[in-house]
Amino acid sequence: MKKLAIALLGTTALSAGVATAGELNLICSADVVICERLVTEFEARHSDIDVNMVRLSSGEAYAKIRAESRNPQTDLWWGGTGDPHLQAAHDGLTMEYKSPMLDELQPWAVKQAEVSGWHTVGVYSGALGWGYNTEIFKEKGLTPPKCWADLLDPALKGEIEIADPNSSGTAYTTLATLVQIMGEDEAFEFLGKLNENVAQYTKSGSAPVKAAARGETGLGIVFQHDAVAQAVAGFPIAVGSPCEGTGYEIGSMSLVEGAQNVEEAKTFYDWVLRPEVQGVMPEAGSFQIPSNKNAKAPKEAPDLSTIKLIDYDFAVYGSSEKRKALLARWDAEIGGKPAE
Ligand code: G6P
Repeated sequence: MKKLAIALLGTTALSAGVATAGELNLICSADVVICERLVTEFEARHSDIDVNMVRLSSGEAYAKIRAESRNPQTDLWWGGTGDPHLQAAHDGLTMEYKSPMLDELQPWAVKQAEVSGWHTVGVYSGALGWGYNTEIFKEKGLTPPKCWADLLDPALKGEIEIADPNSSGTAYTTLATLVQIMGEDEAFEFLGKLNENVAQYTKSGSAPVKAAARGETGLGIVFQHDAVAQAVAGFPIAVGSPCEGTGYEIGSMSLVEGAQNVEEAKTFYDWVLRPEVQGVMPEAGSFQIPSNKNAKAPKEAPDLSTIKLIDYDFAVYGSSEKRKALLARWDAEIGGKPAE
């Protein structure tokens, strides 16, 4: 009896004390469907590792990792726009790691790693734009916008949704893109006018085009692949690519500094960069460009070579100073002033 009690005690102590025994705490910042699919696929191949996954928008994920920095509860952060991953790297919140998979990655994914001092890596890419509901536009006699400037058309009042750049990486990419195209003061002037047409600032980046798909709003400013996803799902959504040029994301992945389950996190990290794993994304309705050179871009993915892309400066717009300053200005000039 005593022996059994000691043995049991031993097991409890072991599972409580050795936190590395088969657990992985994952934040996933892409669409919840692909997040869940990746966890299922991973657990099927690594039955000894239990994944606890939470889906958070990119800015929220950064804030959580920052808040937990003295006692990290997260091991790995997969997906979401690259800027907050770069900010986390800059702030020392993530760990240097060179995956053996680096050799298989596209130059833009490796460059992202290099810029961060190997604290993050590119996992996918996609360009910014919008998706609009063709039926609503037809019914209301609205002209589909071709350029960023067209979004200011007073006829679009109350028809546009975009996320809040504090929580959403998509919306931060939009903010940083406009600043790079127009200059900072002009971009804030533009956003002030756009505010007149915005019905709602959502928490998550893709929510605006999901609302447009359901007919709750006319247009969502989102990544083009998120608009494509709604069209592929059968909704009357057309994709817009701004005539002035547009920004793009390098969706990224980072290992948390001080993670309790480093080995498990590295196992997932190397696995999720594999071509056949990235190839699963379209099956889950995610149409980004994969970062592994041997993974085929889904046929539905917007073709980046036909989109007028700006030379997005990830080093500058992913820096702590710039992101903090732009978000503070957005809060002061835009977020605090909802449209009437
Ligand atoms: C969607 C896109 C991803 C992007 C993510 C950012 O899930 O498909 O490509 O990285 O949004 O999410 P957030 O909520 O931070 O804008």
